[in-house]
Amino acid sequence: MAEEEHREVDAYSGVGTTGHEWDGIKELDNPLPRWWLWIFYATIAWSVVYMIFMPALPAPPGMDGHTRGLRNHSERANVAVAMAELEALRGADFARLQAAADSGGIDAVENDAQLLNFALAAGDSAFGDNCATCHGAGGQGFVGYPNLNDDDWLWGGSFDDIRHTIRHGVRWDTDFDTRFSQMPAYGRDELLSRDEIAAVADYVLTLSGMIEPTEAGRTTGAEIYDAQCSICHMADGSGDQSQGAPNLSDAIWLYGSSPEQVRDIIWRGPYGVMPAWQERLDEQTITALAAYVYLRGAREGESFAEAGAQEDVTEAGR
Ligand code: HEC
Ligand code: HEC
Repeated sequence: MAEEEHREVDAYSGVGTTGHEWDGIKELDNPLPRWWLWIFYATIAWSVVYMIFMPALPAPPGMDGHTRGLRNHSERANVAVAMAELEALRGADFARLQAAADSGGIDAVENDAQLLNFALAAGDSAFGDNCATCHGAGGQGFVGYPNLNDDDWLWGGSFDDIRHTIRHGVRWDTDFDTRFSQMPAYGRDELLSRDEIAAVADYVLTLSGMIEPTEAGRTTGAEIYDAQCSICHMADGSGDQSQGAPNLSDAIWLYGSSPEQVRDIIWRGPYGVMPAWQERLDEQTITALAAYVYLRGAREGESFAEAGAQEDVTEAGR
């Protein structure tokens, strides 16, 4: 490109060109604004100062993998210190909660507003980390995973019952004290025929008024129930918490309430498993979780009763 072209002045804008040209488009020689340049230089100067004082440059692993800077600053060390402070703070609360629960039971926790709040907060966070995957974020449960907010308990709803269940799990082989029972798989193990299962399912569903009584249910179904099922689910269907056998006469169903679902569960025999948490969580966290599960149900009951208007709506709906 020729020298004189470089000096060329753009006729339209009156600005000189740099001499660079692409496809007939020429670049105008507009210098950067001063203020912009000075800020640019200032950021470069700042970065040099920063690199001297703060960790900035990669270094061999022996030096932590980076330079430390004159200020010897370490975000990681700061976090470790903050965590240790928090641990100390929460540690005291955890210890107090454990002592109160061990000596005075759940009443001692409920009567101390500060402990109560701590138990609910610590329990909520541990629940989200460990339990929500199976029991749902709000503890509302899914098919096969019980709702923990209602007042219907498979294995007992006292604070100590709940704590035992969480500690030792349900049907968890490696825990000697785990909750255990096993309903037979009546169909798969050929203890009952298809027709007999349909009849006893009909009978079970009439216990809670889910369906109108059927002929087969009233005769064959009732007979089979008395002979095979009442030892665990009781003659009136009210269940047995010492065996984890659900109440069959209420409207709460762990495995679903449709005739197909009830027949299926009698056919294959349910076998719900929950881990023993004492293998993974410390005793204080388990206590906080048990308090959380126990108290939350009660608390939600209270707030529902307080909302009088809401109650009227449900009353009217019945
Ligand atoms: C891998 C899934 C799973 C996880 C995770 C889990 N659970 Fe469970 N949990 C179950 C199942 C399944 C049952 C029902 C067992 C049965 O059928 O008897 C259950 C039952 C319970 C019960 C007894 C309910 C009753 O009606 O008696 C409590 C209490 C409970 N879980 C609390 C917890 C807590 C607290 C955590 C977190 C530390 C947790 N669970 C984590 C699967 C799980
Ligand atoms: C050895 C005790 C035992 C016997 C006998 C037994 N069950 Fe069960 N049953 C259980 C247990 C325990 C569960 C809950 C298992 C679980 O949570 O995984 C259950 C669950 C059920 C459920 C599911 C309830 C729900 O809420 O979804 C039905 C339905 C049921 N049984 C019906 C029967 C019928 C019908 C018979 C007789 C033919 C019978 N059971 C015999 C222990 C027993």
